[in-house]
Amino acid sequence: MALLDVDNLAVSFRTADGIVNAVNGLSISVDGGETLAIVGESGSGKSQTAFAVMGLLARNGSASGSIKLDGTELLGLSQAELNRKRAEQVAMIFQDPMTSLNPYLRVGDQMVEVLTLHKGMSKRAALKECVAMLEAVRIPDARGRLSMYPHEFSGGMRQRIMIAMALLCHPRLLIADEPTTALDVTVQAQIMELLADIRRDFGTAMILITHDLGIVADTCERTVVMYGGRVMEQGATADLFARPSHPYTLGLLKAVPRLDVDQDELETIPGDPPDMSRLPKGCPFTPRCAFRLEQCADVQPDLLPWQNVLRACHADPEKVK
Ligand SMILES: Nc1ncnc2c1ncn2[C@@H]1O[C@H](COP(=O)(O)OP(=O)(O)O)[C@@H](O)[C@H]1O
Ligand SMILES: [Mg+2]
Repeated sequence: MALLDVDNLAVSFRTADGIVNAVNGLSISVDGGETLAIVGESGSGKSQTAFAVMGLLARNGSASGSIKLDGTELLGLSQAELNRKRAEQVAMIFQDPMTSLNPYLRVGDQMVEVLTLHKGMSKRAALKECVAMLEAVRIPDARGRLSMYPHEFSGGMRQRIMIAMALLCHPRLLIADEPTTALDVTVQAQIMELLADIRRDFGTAMILITHDLGIVADTCERTVVMYGGRVMEQGATADLFARPSHPYTLGLLKAVPRLDVDQDELETIPGDPPDMSRLPKGCPFTPRCAFRLEQCADVQPDLLPWQNVLRACHADPEKVK
């Protein structure tokens, strides 16, 4: 049984302008200890997928379908049951650590509270655990840092603290939503390395959400490509990168800066991401797709196996290159 099993998930929001369909029939699964990447341009529904799993959708949002964590259905649980289940099993880190750290509390107090509250630990035992966790995320002089406030740390150090906090309850699944987007390139690489180490040391399964295909290549064994709230293509990262069979994956890959390719040759995908309140009946990528066929705008392609991947596309995969 998969650790996380999301089946036919739909997330929609009520707004003054109508219904926004952010996620439309998404199915993904994550096994224990595995790292799955969810990639796609801004607005493709990546974060709302994560928020649905965490039970953190905005108040105008609702989710349907099925989200099973370790076999337990999460959709429809009461907030209290959900909180308990989540605290035991899943943690999430966000793009901007300052949105989840309280600026007025010392880092040590925030971390200790997680353990005294959720695990019923004594303050003394909690402190010891917090120091150990800060050391695990390679923060030097961990004990001394506990009395500092979030703003006294650099962006990279703050993200390390967030990761340490997320790991305090030893979650089996860590969801990292654009964890390095706000950081400069060197620090990005360090955080990615840290996440890889954590996975090795703690056996934590991970969902890494990013719009940057460059950073998933080394870290994630499987990749899901999302667009318009749907899966366009999914499979082993190595297979997807070696031979993208969906026009959208192909476009994303052509937009990844590479050392061996002149930057001037970088192609961006022409056109804009779709308006999620006015999605076409068929494939959401149709208006931007260079390989579109007659039926694409009207008939949603099923996600079907081709070679080692699953792809949702009417075009002949042999021609997509
Ligand atoms: N509270 C909300 N009300 C209305 N629309 C929302 C709300 N939250 C997110 N959305 C919409 O959901 C869509 C998917 O958003 P998101 O999952 O955040 O994209 P991504 O993380 O892939 O960039 C976007 O079109 C966004 O505007
Ligand atoms: Mg997002």
